[in-house]
Amino acid sequence: MKEIINVELKTRIVDAGACKTDMLAVGLFCDAKKLDGLNKELDGKLDGAINRLMKLGDFTGKSGTSAIVYGNERIDAKRILLVGLGEKKKATLDTLRKAAAGAAKKAVESKSKTLSLALHRAFGTALDASEMGQACGEGTYLGSYRYDEFVADNEDGRLDSLKVELIDPDSATTQKLRKGLAAGVAVGRAQNYARTLANRPANVVNPARLAAEAKELARSARTLSCTIFDEKQMASKGMGGVLAVGSGSQSKPRFIILKYSPTATTVRNLPKVALVGKAITFDSGGISIKPSANMDEMKLDKSGGTTVLGTMKAVAELGLPIHVLGIVPAAENLPSGTSYRPGDIIKTSSGKSIEVQNTDAEGRLILCDGLNYAVKQKCDVIVDIATLTGACVVALGTYMAGLMGNDDKLIKQLQEASESSGEKVWPMPSGDEYAKEMKSKIADLKNIGSRWGGACTAAAFLGQFVGDKKWAHLDIAGVWSFEKATEFAAEGASGFGVRLLTAFLANLAGAGKK
Ligand code: BES
Ligand code: MN
Ligand code: ZN
Repeated sequence: MKEIINVELKTRIVDAGACKTDMLAVGLFCDAKKLDGLNKELDGKLDGAINRLMKLGDFTGKSGTSAIVYGNERIDAKRILLVGLGEKKKATLDTLRKAAAGAAKKAVESKSKTLSLALHRAFGTALDASEMGQACGEGTYLGSYRYDEFVADNEDGRLDSLKVELIDPDSATTQKLRKGLAAGVAVGRAQNYARTLANRPANVVNPARLAAEAKELARSARTLSCTIFDEKQMASKGMGGVLAVGSGSQSKPRFIILKYSPTATTVRNLPKVALVGKAITFDSGGISIKPSANMDEMKLDKSGGTTVLGTMKAVAELGLPIHVLGIVPAAENLPSGTSYRPGDIIKTSSGKSIEVQNTDAEGRLILCDGLNYAVKQKCDVIVDIATLTGACVVALGTYMAGLMGNDDKLIKQLQEASESSGEKVWPMPSGDEYAKEMKSKIADLKNIGSRWGGACTAAAFLGQFVGDKKWAHLDIAGVWSFEKATEFAAEGASGFGVRLLTAFLANLAGAGKK
């Protein structure tokens, strides 16, 4: 797949003051009494321009803000971008990630060809240099991304490529930065890959197309193999959930499996992990059709699936020593003369029957076949990710994903990965009370619960299909996109979960830290 903007990243041992570049980015905390370290040195060379700017109050160091000072004959950078880092005591790795993202976004907007990042310098030794390198790599991809592959008439234009370097005067620090940067590049690129797949509209990405992308991905890595089930193969496996949901569309459903087999031999005692992602390439609601307002956004209903593909790409590029199975049931939910209907009773691959009371609660119907496949493949740990319920958006808003599951340790591991990756999750319940609501009088289960707690009943429904496996569920309906462009990211698909799941797997594989 064509990369939307070609970003090249490397490290360089150089003094920021002597760095020849289109844009040099440095970070400032809002609660620093006066300029120090690198910022003081630059201010001196700029004849006090940074100090003057701050005295005027034009820049205070608040997070999400920035200001530009132009270079002079004593400084080789054409632009010096001051990036606000907020309060020092609140600073985390994500502060740096967002700062790098903000700088990359500004570099693209100003059509800078080169961007030199010295943002990490403001953090001193408070954070690990390798982790800072990774955060800068991830942030650079996050911020430089735009989805414009169909824009021919691009008024403000943009350059096709951006050269970015992490700069530090010290060679030992630079070496550590470089190590983390390589991981950050892998994860950042994988996340943008997921964003582009998700951003593509439903007339471009249908289930067969998504399957072809997965095949292509597998061709790019020796450690990945891809299997696709078409309708016939799904029928022979009794995958009635995916087939029912896909029955209304001319674009037929697919069941996508990506298998990652590490080359390392040290994986014997590690769990085999399955990632199951919902890929509804368009969710009209089906016969229980949705209102037309904002229905176009429902092209993003494949985001769980595209995040699984992105994560598999990152895992392969990082060469993590752990077995991972990516499972992506893909279908288009449309109304037609061949659609499944409210009232239908379908049989799923688990053997359980489901009474369909609402064709718009389709995600759980494809996921149950995905989860059952993971169980049959003897995966020890199953994590599913899905744009599952509007109720989750009502509960948590657009800042964090809902996190449910049946195993406290697994929940904790995902919360830890959330901390380091900056992709936020919040725990929600999905126990027996909720499961009870999903019982049907005429089948084993029904696909909707009562009016309340929709994110929890949906999760409880999924929990019926994981047997005795450790399982967690991420409802990403609220975080699937940036509705409007922010200081850190362009509008559109967020690729949420690629960083989180990759960090989770890296931690499991013991390759996360150090
Ligand atoms: N894909 C939607 C959930 C969704 C809603 C994602 C808003 C992102 C933003 C899902 O398939 C759906 O339609 N869920 C229904 C379930 C209901 C019928 C029980 C919902 O949330 O309204
Ligand atoms: Mn739906
Ligand atoms: Zn949906």
